[in-house]
Amino acid sequence: MPFLRSTSSKVTMLRNVPLFKGLSQRQLEQVARLADELEVPAGKRLATIGDTGHELFVIVNGQATVKLKDSRTVRLGPGEFFGEMSLIDGGPRSATVDAASPMKVLVIGHREFWELLNEAPPLVGKIMRTLSQRLRDAEEAHTA
Ligand code: CMP
Repeated sequence: MPFLRSTSSKVTMLRNVPLFKGLSQRQLEQVARLADELEVPAGKRLATIGDTGHELFVIVNGQATVKLKDSRTVRLGPGEFFGEMSLIDGGPRSATVDAASPMKVLVIGHREFWELLNEAPPLVGKIMRTLSQRLRDAEEAHTA
């Protein structure tokens, strides 16, 4: 169930999410407008490898487990995000992601994702940096 709360209390919550650090008040209001807040129970599957992906998830609270193609698992926590790969290239989900604990996440749809990158350019660099780290991680695992 998405929360319904005022934009100002959502902006206050967004200020504490590291991904959004450095955004202006106006940019945070755009994030608040474009992202839905969702409570997720432990064990819920949020992305399935091979499926078409329609959303980016930003973790506000809790932990997620990413099960990679090579069977390795990676833990993601508050301030981290997942689901960007499918939104960027339109390809299938590269990993399966489950809630490892009860979580609060922000869900940003495909259209809203691209709008957000236009509205809040600092996010472009942060997402690119993480994408590059994930690529290196995959390369290292492949060559290890
Ligand atoms: P996507 O492919 O859309 O769906 C699965 C997500 O898992 C993927 O986007 C990334 O957000 C995330 N993911 C993939 N590889 C890694 C990795 N090496 N470390 C952390 N997260 C990853």
